[in-house]
Parts: sequence; structure tokens; C-alpha cells
Amino acid sequence: MSNNYSFWVALFCLVVLVSKDVEGGDPGGPIPAKDADKIQFALNLEFFEAEFFCNGATGRGLDGIAPGFAKGGPPPIGAQRANLDNLTRQIFEEFCYQEVGHLRAIITAYGGFPRPLYDLSNQSFATVFDKAVGYKLIPPFDPYASSVQYLLASYVIPYVGLVGYVGTIPELADSNARRLVSGLLAVEAGQDAVIRSLLYEIADKKVEPYNVTVAEFTDLISGLRNKLAATGNKDEGLTVPKELGAEKKIESNILSADANSVSYSRTPMEILRVVYGSGNESQAGGFLPRGGNGRIARSFLDKNIN
Ligand SMILES: *[C@@H]1O[C@H](CO)[C@@H](O)[C@H](O)[C@H]1NC(C)=O
Ligand SMILES: *[C@@H]1O[C@H](CO)[C@@H](O)[C@H](O)[C@H]1NC(C)=O
Ligand SMILES: *[C@@H]1O[C@H](CO)[C@@H](O)[C@H](O)[C@H]1NC(C)=O
Ligand SMILES: *[C@@H]1O[C@H](CO)[C@@H](O)[C@H](O)[C@H]1NC(C)=O
Repeated sequence: MSNNYSFWVALFCLVVLVSKDVEGGDPGGPIPAKDADKIQFALNLEFFEAEFFCNGATGRGLDGIAPGFAKGGPPPIGAQRANLDNLTRQIFEEFCYQEVGHLRAIITAYGGFPRPLYDLSNQSFATVFDKAVGYKLIPPFDPYASSVQYLLASYVIPYVGLVGYVGTIPELADSNARRLVSGLLAVEAGQDAVIRSLLYEIADKKVEPYNVTVAEFTDLISGLRNKLAATGNKDEGLTVPKELGAEKKIESNILSADANSVSYSRTPMEILRVVYGSGNESQAGGFLPRGGNGRIARSFLDKNIN
């Protein structure tokens, strides 16, 4: 690295540090502010996954495991221990602790913000599933009722985090930032693969008591996410027409990816449209009734904050 380059980097970091808005927390080092905002944005999904997986598998949320990370943000509404078989419980207990690790990795390197309010109640998921199928499911879909329903509920959000990380990496300036996010992406992708494989084993089974199979539910949820994000097809269920399968040769679709089997990517705006359930990054709702936190999410909600 030339001295000239080092000088400009040092100057840039100094400018960033001096102008840094401390609202987002102390990043603890000379990190370009924009990278920190982009990485902190992911906390909106990491908190979600931590709360859903930890409560579902262990009956304890972040406040019982690592309360400091929430920075005083409110506990989620309606998160509860799910009625899981032993294998599923064990898998999601591991995912729970992985999410706690992800929170630590992000917060210690890039700072954080108070945990936003999440609505993880059975009604909140029931609304999403009703929207996905296009009618009112009776009885209402309950994510905590069984392993299958919990796996389907888990299908709803981690994939959004995964494609969000794919979208974030090329936007990051600093190589340490890219290294962290590629490491987070790898584990999120692994979780997604496990969830989808477990669902694929029972793809053709009806989800009792509904007249809808597991594969049909995944297709409908992916369709809803595509509709809310409003940027075309970036999301596919467990089975697809051959034209959308790997090399147009196969209808199974255990992993969702593009024509070259390369992962789709999503922007923060697309992600917010999906998790708010509103199709609009400026209209909070759904799983985040008061909206996400951090500069990027708030910039769409509070027009005076940039
Ligand atoms: C599930 O785990 C519990 C507690 O670890 C154990 O008592 C039970 O026998 C296990 N059930 C099965 C079906 O393995
Ligand atoms: C939803 O969860 C609440 C407890 O949080 C429970 O009282 C209610 O019966 C559940 N509803 C359904 C439809 O499962
Ligand atoms: C269940 O769905 C299938 C199509 O997916 C349909 O042919 C059948 O009539 C439905 N059965 C009931 C009881 O609604
Ligand atoms: C999104 O919501 C904002 C605020 O309510 C509104 O001004 C805007 O028109 C909406 N955008 C779309 C595409 O509906």
C-alpha cells in the first residue's frame, strides 16, 4: 500500500469520525460511516431471527440470553416456545445461538441501535399466510403449533436476510466489512438450506388441517414476497416449472437462485417492503409495527432524518 493511499484513507477516516452522528452508537474504530449503516441495517433481520428462533426453540428470548444487545429496545410481542419435535428443536436452538453470535459480531465491530418492536404473535404470522394464500385460513395459521408450521414460518424471513447480505457486500467499501458480511452470509445461507431441505422432505404433504401442501405454501410465500418487493422474480418455492429450475432441467428447487444458479439479491428498500407487509418502505407494519431502526430504515420513515 503506497503512502499516498494511506494518507487519503487516514484523512477520510478522520473526516468520517469527526462528522459521525453518534446516534447509531460508537463503532469503536475508524470505519467509513456508510459501511456501518449498511451493516447495522442487517440487525433489523438478525434481531428478528434471534427472537423467533430463541423463543421458539427454548422459550427464552434475547432478554434471557444476551440482554445487552437489545440496548433497551422493547421485547417482541407474542413470541413463544413452539411445539417442536426434538430434532427440529435442536436445530433451531443452534440457529438461536448463531443469531446471538451474529448480533455480537455486528454490534462489537459496527455499533448498534435499540432492538425495534417486533410483532411475532400467531396473528401476525396468520396475516402473512392469509395474504400468501389469498383467503382466510381456518383455523388461523399458528407458527408455534407444530414443527411443520414453525418451519414454514421460518421460511418467511431468513431468506430475506440472505438475499439482503448478497446485495450488501458489493456496496461495502472496506474489506473488513466485506469479510464480516460474507461470513454472516455463509451461515444464513446454511440456515436457509437446512430449513428448505427439511421442508423438501415433506414437500407433498398437506399441512394439517389445511388443504395446502408444504410445497404450495412455500410457492405462495415466495410469490407474496415477490409481489411486496415489486422487483420481479427473486424468490422461488421448493418446486418450480422446469424453465426456472437449475439449467432448466429440474423442477425441484431446494435452493432458490437465478438462471445461473447464482443467488438473487435484494436492497434494503425491497426488504422493508416485505417485512412491513405493506409493499412500501415508508409504511411500517407487519412484523415491525413501528418500523425498523438504524439510519437506513428510519430514513424512509422520518423524512427529516437522512
Ligand atoms: C425428546 O427429548 C426429551 C428430552 O431430552 C426426551 O425425554 C424424549 O425421550 C425425546 N423424545 C424422542 C422421541 O426422542
Ligand atoms: C395465539 O397465541 C395466544 C397466546 O399468545 C393464545 O392465547 C391464542 O390461543 C393463540 N391463537 C391461536 C389461533 O393459536
Ligand atoms: C384441495 O385442493 C385441491 C387442489 O389443490 C382440490 O382439487 C380439492 O378439491 C381441494 N379439496 C378440498 C376439500 O377443498
Ligand atoms: C409509500 O408510502 C408513502 C408514505 O405513506 C407515500 O407517500 C408513497 O406514495 C407510497 N409509495 C407507493 C409506491 O405507494
